[in-house]
Amino acid sequence: MQLFNTLVAHAIPWLPHALVQRISRRYIAGATLAEAVQRVRALNAQGYPVTLDVLGESIGAMAQAEQTGADYLLALDAIAAHGLQATLSVKPTALGLLLDPARCEQLLAQLADAAEPHSALCIDMEDCRVTEREIALFGRLKRARAHVSLALQAYLRRTYQDIEPLLREESSLRICKGIYLESDTELVDGAARDRALINRHFLHHVARCFAARAFVAVATHDAALIEEVIALAQREGVTRNGFEFQMLLGVCEPLRDRLRERGFTVRIYVPYGQDWYGYSTRRLKENPRIAGYV
Ligand code: FDA
Repeated sequence: MQLFNTLVAHAIPWLPHALVQRISRRYIAGATLAEAVQRVRALNAQGYPVTLDVLGESIGAMAQAEQTGADYLLALDAIAAHGLQATLSVKPTALGLLLDPARCEQLLAQLADAAEPHSALCIDMEDCRVTEREIALFGRLKRARAHVSLALQAYLRRTYQDIEPLLREESSLRICKGIYLESDTELVDGAARDRALINRHFLHHVARCFAARAFVAVATHDAALIEEVIALAQREGVTRNGFEFQMLLGVCEPLRDRLRERGFTVRIYVPYGQDWYGYSTRRLKENPRIAGYV
């Protein structure tokens, strides 16, 4: 069955767009802001805050970055107008980090300023080409803006060094395992073979955040890891205001429901936008079991 699913996952580029779109509805709120608002309202009503991601990672021209920046500003308007419990998640390369870093920073600063006081902004961490630059960008942005946070990846060796100055500066962080294909030299031992081997490092970074009393978003669907985080929070006396779980829209819904029922905050990462096709084919390839439903 697994082989079948993997074959189906690789066949996705040849499937009709309409079919991929039907399947992707589970992972993506839609192509438009109106669809995203509808989905956010439903999630908020069920007790889930969200973080919105305007799709569009790989851009070829600054005009796309300007458009993405404008789309995020419209999202902030909608958050305020509808009283939504929603923050933003932003990939700096989608705002032009690799094309025009100065303009990218201006766009991010504009978003961070517009996010106050209704919302907040998290900088997603991308691949190793930009790790250094995204940490520096975050440092400059957060100096005057406490509601800006940064994602760090537990699969990278360097995170052990990166996290310490960030915690000294009282940063809010999101810890995730990491999604990009990186070389073995960048990764913690065994991470490329077995994602469970990242858990020890993930837990170490969450523990550092707890010890520093820094707010931390625990972004994972790994049930065993989540239980370890809960036990750690109890041992360290960290209250439920000190951390939250975060999960991707449509992924491991029974797990997220159980956490909510136990009284934990679970924020849902809600992607939407015109680039729904690129995003959904990546998700389908990532998890061939879903492709099997095709
Ligand atoms: P792992 O990959 O070990 O999966 C654990 C289990 O969860 C799997 O066995 C499976 O059951 C389930 N699962 C995981 N992903 C699934 C999927 N797509 N579909 C169905 N089931 C799935 N990465 C990054 O590099 N930079 C970033 O900024 C972010 N930001 C981010 C925000 C949020 C809110 C989340 C949830 C994730 C990210 N990520 C990310 C992605 C993250 O690094 C990671 O790749 C995925 O979350 C999958 O890893 P898990 O921690 O879930 O564990």
